[in-house]
Amino acid sequence: MTKTQPNKPNLSSTVAEVNFASYILNASGPRCTTEAELHNLGQSESAAIMTKSCTLLAREGNPEPRYKALPQGSIQSMGLPNLGYKAYLDMLPRLTQYNKPLIVSISGLSINDNVEMVSAFQKSAADLLEVNFSCPNVPGKPQLGYDFEQTDKALAAITKFGDKPLGIKLPAYFDFNHFETVANILKKYPVKFISSINSIGNTLVIDPETESPVIKPKAGFGGLCGSYIKPIGLANVNAFRQLLPKEISIFGVGGIYSGSDAFEYLLAGADAVQVATCYQEQGTECFSRISNELSQILSRKNYQDINDAKGALKLL
Ligand code: SIN
Repeated sequence: MTKTQPNKPNLSSTVAEVNFASYILNASGPRCTTEAELHNLGQSESAAIMTKSCTLLAREGNPEPRYKALPQGSIQSMGLPNLGYKAYLDMLPRLTQYNKPLIVSISGLSINDNVEMVSAFQKSAADLLEVNFSCPNVPGKPQLGYDFEQTDKALAAITKFGDKPLGIKLPAYFDFNHFETVANILKKYPVKFISSINSIGNTLVIDPETESPVIKPKAGFGGLCGSYIKPIGLANVNAFRQLLPKEISIFGVGGIYSGSDAFEYLLAGADAVQVATCYQEQGTECFSRISNELSQILSRKNYQDINDAKGALKLL
């Protein structure tokens, strides 16, 4: 006799009109630089394959040690190590075999770099283009997303080519004035999604035993990641969900280790979530585990579909 299985909730989601089979994917950052790592993501339950942020030319990144696991997350200053955008252009057709969205992360060191890469990837097998306005780790290069005039100028330049959905990876903001200013700039352009947030830039972790910072680049200043930043990510996602039209999708990023973390981002209004530090620490197994945990939470709360809980935060 076959036992009837209770219906599993539907975790499939749509981001920028592209279908995602589940709610959980990798963030640009850990373990997505080489072709082998991207195939590994293809074989995993990550809902998409997201690349490491690429630059015009290949980069080795910052000197080691540049990543340190912490009790509730990590600090890193990788400095955009990547193979250069042409390598990703070349490998994209080989990644289509996994039948899941391909997202290219682009992080030019100037507006012109971003223009060149965005126009090249517009003619590629990528499904979405995420342009990184928030890397804090290139010495001498400020985070574009904190300079509103340059953000506006960069968006004007990169949104002119092709129809592939283009989104922006934003830094964290901490002031309602800034949420509104950024939302108003985004609304002027055909931006189809945001990814919110990147690591909290330029934080400092000191080891009192060695009396030194725990990472080497930038005199120890680096991006803080993991559970430490989840409340900031939730606030940014929720603020932007309220300020942006629903046609602009939102990827939530920051401190997602469990189904409960993903559920909190869902309530805040995220259309899907990207996992970085947990994936760095646990490998591809985390995608299926977090999805299963999210599924159990939705079932327990009688949500049949992820969309029923999206943005459904209940205020006190
Ligand atoms: C890095 O490679 O330094 C991290 C990328 C980022 O923070 O955007």
